[in-house]
This record gives sequence, structure tokens and C-alpha cells, in this order.
Amino acid sequence: MAKSSSTLSNLVDIIPRKRQFDLQAELSQAWHGNNVFRTAFFNALSMQFPKGEHAFIESLRAYRDQIDGDQLKAQVRAFIGQEGFHSREHQRYNDALVQRYGEEAIADIEARFSHHMDFVANLPRSRKLAGTCAAEHFTAAMAQILLSNPAALDGVSDEMKALWHWHAVEEIEHKAVAYDVFQQQIGSERMRLIVYGFVTYNFSKHTLLNMLDMLKAEGKLWSPGTWIGGANFLWGRPGVLRRALPHFLAYLRPGFHPWDIDDRPLIAEWKARYEPELAAESAAAGAKLAQA
Ligand SMILES: [Fe+2]
Ligand SMILES: [Fe+2]
Repeated sequence: MAKSSSTLSNLVDIIPRKRQFDLQAELSQAWHGNNVFRTAFFNALSMQFPKGEHAFIESLRAYRDQIDGDQLKAQVRAFIGQEGFHSREHQRYNDALVQRYGEEAIADIEARFSHHMDFVANLPRSRKLAGTCAAEHFTAAMAQILLSNPAALDGVSDEMKALWHWHAVEEIEHKAVAYDVFQQQIGSERMRLIVYGFVTYNFSKHTLLNMLDMLKAEGKLWSPGTWIGGANFLWGRPGVLRRALPHFLAYLRPGFHPWDIDDRPLIAEWKARYEPELAAESAAAGAKLAQA
């Protein structure tokens, strides 16, 4: 018999993996295949992660004491662990972007997003949790594209791929946690859908504005070739957003659950690719400690 979506929530392990990537030098370059648009697109997303993920954590902490069920409580703890590590690593990533875009551009981007997140921080906790569910749906959709479509990171170094793949797989592992808490504690379809509209608008707006600031800082804002190639990357081939569109829209289906989209095979593929490497790294670190 097929497993129901909420059963799948309980079958997927959520494992916080503390990782650090050596990307400082690369982040001063057009690291995505020497393409400024693609590089700016991913950098523009990253600029939203530390504060965004901090807000996701806070939105779940606000309900932590009243969550029913040991398994869901444990999933919330694992969610907080994963997002905490992502936030820390993307802050290091964003700090390094100063080398590429200059202090002024990065400060402007930070200030604009902080202003938005200050507004979000003052919303009622139910809206904040609905916002986390919506943003988590976007990150899960993008994660699916990154893990299932190698062309999305074509021409990118192994270390940079490892960062984005690590973040992506953990977004898939924990994609239903905020959603399951929302269903248990609030369960309003109306609020879920209305807030999704706001989050769609704000996520798109901030990604676009961040990209404009970045392209402006490097004198590529008015380059037609940059925009034509970029539009093709997002909407043509590989069509990162075109491919994600059905996933984005799935959230609008009444009674939707994140595990209606069963992407456990992507988690298994990630583990097959990266876990031997991680095991070797931690064995080497253990040997170093034993020698010291
Ligand atoms: Fe994350
Ligand atoms: Fe997340």
C-alpha cells in the first residue's frame, strides 16, 4: 500500500551536519561557470538565508512548548540544528561577497533585507509560522531542482557544488517540519494560502533587487547579453525556474502536504555521493586528534 504523505514525514531522518566549506577565494570570482548573472542569482539567494533561516527558527521556537508528539518535537530540534548550521555557513559566504561587490553594495542589500525582516518579526506568531511554511516550500522546490538537474550547477567547482548540495538535501529532509507544526497548531488553509502569496512576492522582490545591486556593482546592469543568457538559464535551458514552477504551484492545491512530492530518492543519491567522503573526512580528523 502506498504510504501517505504525513507518514513520509516520519520516515525521513533529519540530520544536522555541521559543515564548513573553503570558498572564500572562489566567492570573489564569477564562480558559476564564469557567468555573472548565474553567480548573482545564487549569491542573491544566499544574501537572504542567514536572516531568513534565523526567522524560521524563531517561528518554530514560538510553538515549541505546545507541540504535541515526541517525534514532531524531535523533528523541530533537528530543523533548528540544520537551519542554524546553514545560517552560519551562509553568513561566512555572504561576508566573502564584499570582495566581489564592494562594501557599499553588500551593506545596501543587508539593510534592505533587515528592514523587511524587522517587519516580519512584528507579525503575529501564526503568520510567521505560515511564512516559514511558504518559504520552506520555495527552498524545497529549489533544492529539488539543484539535486535532480546537474545542468543547474554546470561549470561549478566541486567544493561549491558540495555547499549547495548539502544545503539542498537538508532542505528536503526537513521540508515538512514547519508545515506539520502549522497543521497541528493552526491548520488554517486560508492563512496558509494568503501568506504564500505574500512570501512569493517578497522572495521574488528581494532576489531580483539583490541581483540588480550586484550586477550594478560590477557594471553589468545594462548588458543585454547578460540578461538574455540569464533569462535562458532561468526560463529556457536548463530553465531553473521553469522546472520549479509546477512545484511552486503545487502548494496551492487544497490539502497539499510537502511529502506529496516524494523526493526521497534525491536524499539517497546525495548520501551515496557524499557520505563516503564525509566519513573519510571525520576519520582523518579523528586520527589528527589522536596524534595531537
Ligand atoms: Fe536552510
Ligand atoms: Fe529550511
